[in-house]
Amino acid sequence: MRLIVESKPMADKHFERILVTAALPYANGPIHIGHLAGAYLPADLYCRYQRLKGRDVVFVSGSDEYGVAIMVRALHEGITPKEVVDRYHPMIREAFEGFGMSFDHYGRTTSPVHVETSQDFFRYLAEKDVFVLKTEKQLYDPKAGLFLADRFVRGTCPVCGYEDAYGDQCERCGTSLSPQELINPRSTLSDATPELRETTHWYLPLGRLQPELERWIATHPEWKPNVLGQVKSWLKEGLKDRAITRDVPWGVPVPRDVAEKAGVDAEGKVIYVWFDAPIGYISATKEWAAEQGDPDRWEKYWRDDRSMLIHFIGKDNIVFHCLMFPAMLMEYDGFVLPENVPANEFLNLEGQKLSTSRGWAVWLHEYLEAFPPDLLRYSLAATLPETKDADFSWRDFQTRSNSELADILGNFVNRTMTFAHRFAEGKAPPLVNPSETDREALERLAAFPARIGAAYEAFRMREAVFETMNLARLGNKYFNDTEPWHTRKTDPQACANTIHVSLQICAALCVLMEPVLPFSAAKLRAMLNLTGVRASEPGAGDESLRGWDEAAGPLLEPGHALGKAQILFRKIADEAIEAQIAKLKATETPEASEEPPYEPLKETITYDDFARLDLRMGTVTAAERLPKSKKLLRLEVDLGFETRQILAGVAQQMTPEDLLGRRVVVVANLAPRKMMGLESQGMLLMAENRDGTLAPLTSEGENGAVVR
Ligand code: MF3
Ligand code: ZN
Repeated sequence: MRLIVESKPMADKHFERILVTAALPYANGPIHIGHLAGAYLPADLYCRYQRLKGRDVVFVSGSDEYGVAIMVRALHEGITPKEVVDRYHPMIREAFEGFGMSFDHYGRTTSPVHVETSQDFFRYLAEKDVFVLKTEKQLYDPKAGLFLADRFVRGTCPVCGYEDAYGDQCERCGTSLSPQELINPRSTLSDATPELRETTHWYLPLGRLQPELERWIATHPEWKPNVLGQVKSWLKEGLKDRAITRDVPWGVPVPRDVAEKAGVDAEGKVIYVWFDAPIGYISATKEWAAEQGDPDRWEKYWRDDRSMLIHFIGKDNIVFHCLMFPAMLMEYDGFVLPENVPANEFLNLEGQKLSTSRGWAVWLHEYLEAFPPDLLRYSLAATLPETKDADFSWRDFQTRSNSELADILGNFVNRTMTFAHRFAEGKAPPLVNPSETDREALERLAAFPARIGAAYEAFRMREAVFETMNLARLGNKYFNDTEPWHTRKTDPQACANTIHVSLQICAALCVLMEPVLPFSAAKLRAMLNLTGVRASEPGAGDESLRGWDEAAGPLLEPGHALGKAQILFRKIADEAIEAQIAKLKATETPEASEEPPYEPLKETITYDDFARLDLRMGTVTAAERLPKSKKLLRLEVDLGFETRQILAGVAQQMTPEDLLGRRVVVVANLAPRKMMGLESQGMLLMAENRDGTLAPLTSEGENGAVVR
C-alpha cells in the first residue's frame, strides 16, 4: 500500500506506514484526565482515523518505570521502586484499556527487551564516541551513602527564601535551580547535610549537535506554533550538554563493558531516565513485532524513510522529543526522525491547575465507575488544549453529553431507527425519485469524510470532532425539513426516501464517529447491522473492506435488514454531576482549598499598546494617612524632574512607613484624578500576591529614569 498524506505541508512526502507514539506515563500513580487530554486521546483519535483510512499504523506507548519520579513515590509509600511500578503499571494499562486507547503495544521500561535495547543504544553511541565524559563535584549523602538526585535535596530557595525548595526547582517561585545553589541543603533521604564529592558522568553533547538540530527543525515550519516557539527559545538560549547517566540505585544500568573501556567504575551508575524512556518507543515496537511473529519488523517502522514517526506528548515534554531524542536518533544513523510532534498545552479542572498531590484531579478508573468512556472521550476531544490551556468542568461535560451526544447524535439515530422499524419493516428502503432536498443532503454528506479527515491529518482534533457532530446536525435538519411524519400518510415514497437517506447518514456517522466514540460506534454498527466495514482497532485494517473514504456510501443496500434499536446515549442527571463535584471538593486536600487561584492572564497586547505607558522611577519622599479615608495614602514622589502627589489605594495593606523612602515605579502619564478633594498625579506599580498582600515594584534606576 502506498499512502499519500494529503495535508498541505507534507504533500511532497510519500509515506507507506505510520508509527505513532504517546508519551510513556510515569508508573508512579494512576492516570487522570490531564494525561488523557495531553497525549493519549489525541494519539488514539489519530490512529483510529488512520486505520479507518486503511493505512498501516503502529501505535505504541508504555509505562515509564525508572527515574526519580518512581523513587520519590517509593519513599513516600515506604515500598521499593519495583513494588511501585508493579502496582501502577497494571492500573494504568487497565485504565487505558477502559478508555479504548487502541495501542498496538503497551510496554514497560523494566522489561528485559527495553533494558537491552537502551543499553545497546547507549553502547553504540559510546563506541561511536558521541558522548563526552565529565568529572564533577556533586552532592553526596554521607549517611545514606549515595549521590543525591536533584529532587532528593531540599533547602532554602536563594531567590524567594522558600524553605522547602527542591534541588532542581523552587515550587514557590518557579525558579529552576541546581542543588548547589540551595541555602542550608539537606538530604530528603536521611536529613543529613550533603557534601560535595567527585563523580564521573556521560554527557550528550547537545551543544555540538545544535547546528544539525537547527537545520532539521528548519525543515518543519508546519509544526504547531506552541511547539516551534518552545524549540526556538531553547535553541536561542543555546543547548547545553546533558548528563545522561546518574548515580542512583534505580534505572537501566550503564553497560559494564562501556564503563570499563572508559575507565569508570560502573557501580551504582544508571542511564538517565530521559535517555532510556524515549528508547521505550523502540522497545515497544520490538515487542510488538515479536508478538506478530516477525521480530525484525520493528525496523521497517524505525529505520526506513517511508515511515512517518509522530510523537504525541504534553507540552512539558517538548524539549525531549524535539531536540534530545532526535539528537540521539541522528547520531545513531539510519533512524527516522519525527515528522511531527503535536504537543498539547495543559488541561485545567474546574478552573484550577490539575494537581495529583492536592487531589485535584479526575482519575480515569474512578470516572469509569460512574459514566461510559465515550462521554469523556467526546467532551475532552471537543475541548483539547491544542493551542492554549483548556478547562474541563463537570457542567460542561454534562452539557456536551446531554445537548450534543444525546440530543443531536443520539436523537438523530433514534428517530431514524424508529421510523425504519415502524414504517419500513426494519429495512433500508430503496431511493426512488429523490427530491431536491434528498439529493442535497446526500451531496453534503459526501463532503464529510474528506473534511473531517483533513482536520485529523493536520492534528486539529477539536475541529474534526466538531465536524463529526455537524454531520449529525445535518441529519437532524434534513429529517425535520422532509417531515416524514407527514409524508408517511401523504407520500409514502417520499417518507421511504427520508428513511433511506437518514440511514445512509447514520451509517456514515458510524464510521466517521468511530475515532472519537469507538464504543458507541460499535453499538451503532450492531443497530445498523453494518458489515464489511473496516474497524479502527489494531490489526483491523483489512484493505478489501470499505473504510473512511467510502463512508458516505451508500453503505446500506436497499433491502438491508437492520438490527434492533438501542439507546446510544443516556442523559446525565444533575445529581450525578453534583455528586462528582462534591467528590472532587471532598478529596481536595486542605492546603488546596486555602490556596487561592492565580489571576487569569489578560489578552495579548502589541508592543505599541505597551509603549503608550510612560513608566518612571521615583522615590517616595513623603507618606501619610488621610484622616477621612480607610483606603488611601497620600504620597509625594520625586521623579527627578518634578515631584508628584499620588494617592495610593493601599492603606489597608501598607503603612506610610512601608513606603517612605522606597524606590518605586510610577505610571507618569496617567490622567490626573481627584479623590477626597485631592489630585492624584500618577500611580505606583505594585505586585499583588494572591493573599492580597502588596509589594512595590522597584529598581536601582535614578529618579526620572524611563522604565521600558
Ligand atoms: N514519563 C514522562 C512524563 O510523564 C514522559 C516520558 S516520554 C518518553 O513526563 F519519551 F520518554 F517516553
Ligand atoms: Zn523560590
